[in-house]
Amino acid sequence: MNRIHILGRGAIGLLLANKLSSHTKSTLITRDDSVENYHFIDKDKTSVIPVNQTTFASLKAKISTCIIPVKAYQLNQALHTLIPHLQDDADIILSHNGMSDIAEIAQLLKPSQGLYFLTTSMGGMKPAANAVKYTGAGLTQIGACNQIAQTRLPSLFEALFKPSLSAVEQVTNITEIRWQKLCVNIAINPLSALLQCQNGRLRAPCYSKQVLALLNEACHVAKYEGVELKLLAELERAYKVMTLTAANNSSMAQDIKLGRRTEIDAICGFIVARAKKHGLNVPENELLWQQIKRKERA
Ligand code: PAF
Repeated sequence: MNRIHILGRGAIGLLLANKLSSHTKSTLITRDDSVENYHFIDKDKTSVIPVNQTTFASLKAKISTCIIPVKAYQLNQALHTLIPHLQDDADIILSHNGMSDIAEIAQLLKPSQGLYFLTTSMGGMKPAANAVKYTGAGLTQIGACNQIAQTRLPSLFEALFKPSLSAVEQVTNITEIRWQKLCVNIAINPLSALLQCQNGRLRAPCYSKQVLALLNEACHVAKYEGVELKLLAELERAYKVMTLTAANNSSMAQDIKLGRRTEIDAICGFIVARAKKHGLNVPENELLWQQIKRKERA
């Protein structure tokens, strides 16, 4: 049986652990092992996630494959802790909302270590530290981020992901897919966090001008970054996700509600930073970035 490690006990990590453990021996690497069992809640059914748990200190062998579904702002620290525990030919798979600097991360790895990015629209929320509530099915996409990963992606995909996930695909252009997901997050996360509303409410006509302006800015910046996005397609995608996840609270709405740090720096903050680099103005992204930062501080 294949073996995979998953860093942390976040919602996406637990959802993936639950799915992947049907064909793969999955182990969570957590800060401590105080939690005995992890639970998967799907409507009114609860089951124990068949996953092992370890800490870095008690790892017995080097890691061959690791998914890192931590927030963008936790990534650097997570990688620095993880890297000494990796096999020389390990595969590591990042997964988070917003943008991180893949080139910088790739430089931390050996050329024989594969770097991948996984994005998913499966929905999950954590009602407790040891549980994840499944809030909706969705497509998972995985793509290569360095040269060796390009060669190894087909076998990794066949061995780990295809057997366990029903809606999953390998993609050739993960950068474009990440920009598309970024647009979805720009349209939904900050507004739903400020309004403390479910995603579906953002379809109301009173928000459409702001959603349009936000995505217009994002598409414009993407072009300067060498990524061709079509505004209409990104609007369609964002509204489709609002509909599919109408009854969900976005991750940022949950973060603000629980007084946690959000991923805004990697979402609107990323657009603002890249716009600045190219001498562009992005007032709508700038405004939401500031508003969420103020909420975080409060
Ligand atoms: O961050 C989230 O909550 C999700 O990425 C999304 C797609 C906005 C759905 O709630």
